Amino acid sequence: LLTIRELYKDQEKYLDQEITIGGWVRSIRDSKSFGFIVVNDGTYFQPLQVVYSDKLDNFAEISKMNVGAAIIVKGTLVATPQAKQPFEIQAEEVQIEGASAPDYPLQKKRHSFEYLRTISHLRPRTNTFQAVFRVRSLTAYAIHKFFQERGFVYVHTPLITASDCEGAGEMFQVTTLDMDNVPKTDDGKVDYAQDFFGKQTSLTVSGQLNGETYAQAFRNIYTFGPTFRAENSNTTRHAAEFWMIEPEIAFADLEDNMELAEAMLKYVITYVMENAPEEMKFFNSFVDKGLIDRLENVVSSDFARVTYTEAVEMLEKHNDKFDYKVSWGVDLQTEHERYLTEQVFKRPVFVTDYPKDIKAFYMKMNDDNKTVAAVDCLVPGIGEIIGGSQREDDYEKLAARMEELGMKTEDYQFYMDLRKYGSTRHAGFGLGFERCIMYLTGMSNIRDVIPFPRTVNNCEL
Ligand code: 4AD
Ligand code: MG
Repeated sequence: LLTIRELYKDQEKYLDQEITIGGWVRSIRDSKSFGFIVVNDGTYFQPLQVVYSDKLDNFAEISKMNVGAAIIVKGTLVATPQAKQPFEIQAEEVQIEGASAPDYPLQKKRHSFEYLRTISHLRPRTNTFQAVFRVRSLTAYAIHKFFQERGFVYVHTPLITASDCEGAGEMFQVTTLDMDNVPKTDDGKVDYAQDFFGKQTSLTVSGQLNGETYAQAFRNIYTFGPTFRAENSNTTRHAAEFWMIEPEIAFADLEDNMELAEAMLKYVITYVMENAPEEMKFFNSFVDKGLIDRLENVVSSDFARVTYTEAVEMLEKHNDKFDYKVSWGVDLQTEHERYLTEQVFKRPVFVTDYPKDIKAFYMKMNDDNKTVAAVDCLVPGIGEIIGGSQREDDYEKLAARMEELGMKTEDYQFYMDLRKYGSTRHAGFGLGFERCIMYLTGMSNIRDVIPFPRTVNNCEL
């Protein structure tokens, strides 16, 4: 079978030739002696029109087909200069590979994204989701390409872990204990020593701590894998299962970290615009008008930079506009992040040097002893897309900070060892892959950029 993509890429070769394609019926209409089928095979954003006539033996059978059927069409590809599509296929044979029932949920009318979420097994057959999931695939490739071209080593960090990287306690537990008959210790606590790993374990919230160990061996590494957070926040930007890209660079500081993040985002935007032009045009027309212009501007200008302290001064002046009031020391909420990037800077912005109390234990303390060398990258339409930092590389300072937070250094011996055996300045960040897809497509709900989303109260399929 040829693909519709091949027909578009190599029109000259296939015009007036006999070809065979296979795909799913998007729409079908017939008159007495001929009919039209719009078929899409998923290889290209544009569909292909099939014209068939009553010269075919199974004309009646074809005309009775329902939308959604899988068909194989043999025929001649002919140019249609007047039509929307550059060519169509005049069928000599239409074979029904798999009929579709009359209650096929995707009829020609536009369906809401909410409705389509209830049929996540069928929504990839719609235009929007064809575009989203091709862009998702291309973006993953572009990210690997970016890091591999720069010599970064791809590290597979574990999904089951005994440490809580972000210290937020938002972890899904992994256990084989019998919940109806949980073994207890003498003081009445769950006896995890009897669990599969002999200790309490969870799904990872981040590959960073493991990633750091490989950066201290390979210099530049990245992870790209699933992460899990049992955050009880039912928003359009939070998923319980999401993918994260976490580069970690040795002999590098916060400045190097920001340069890497900016170069990566620009590279990925450029790659996707070049390699999914049809899909990007579609998003620009039907999902987010102005998307392409905006992304082009991002690529051609520098990201803004501001410290947390400066950002708070800017935001405090507009406290009347916010549900949650800003003052020094509070964590920035999505409304504040969006205000900064959409109203103040009107482009992506790096916010640096956050108060230590709202950030994770591993971040490098600044000289003021109040803030840490953290950086978040905020983008219009979303807010935080990247979170990162320079890491505390001094053994004593890290141990002191952990003690302050009630963490036991014994539980993180491997991590402490890195500060003991050839510690280097190092930094890294995490890019939320789904937020990146939202940014690239203009889609406004994270549930619509994940094939089978997992969010609070939702784990279908
Ligand atoms: O800011 P976060 O929590 O940073 C870390 O996990 C660090 N260990 C990263 C590092 O320095 N290596 O998460 C990083 C990014 C966020 O900026 C956001 O884009 C995304 O991960 N993210 C989520 N995306 C979807 N759903 C959630 N529940 C998310 N939580 C974080
Ligand atoms: Mg963060």
